[in-house]
Amino acid sequence: MGAVPLAGAIAQLSWLKGHPIAAFFVRKKPKEHGARLAVEGLANTGPIVCACFGVGRNTICDTIAGGARSAADIGAKLKAGTNCGSCIPELKRLIAQTGTRDPEQRKLAAAN
Ligand code: FES
Repeated sequence: MGAVPLAGAIAQLSWLKGHPIAAFFVRKKPKEHGARLAVEGLANTGPIVCACFGVGRNTICDTIAGGARSAADIGAKLKAGTNCGSCIPELKRLIAQTGTRDPEQRKLAAAN
């Protein structure tokens, strides 16, 4: 049995017993489909960056680590930045900070 069914069962049982445990799991590599997240479950998503869709900083950084290279990439995966757009500057900043170590790539990410 894998970690996901175990974590799910423990989370459910802990909730039924009145002492909920926020279960989550971390993949060695992000999924190659969907949101391409490496961390899933009830992990702390971090402070909300996109208020329109309730997307947290940690979720966004995980998506960047999974290959998102622009605000549009993040929007396609998480919807963040696809409504009012007020969070797009922060998305770009996070991409520039965490997306790459290459200075030229950082400049491109900040410009997109
Ligand atoms: S705050 Fe992100 S789209 Fe509105």
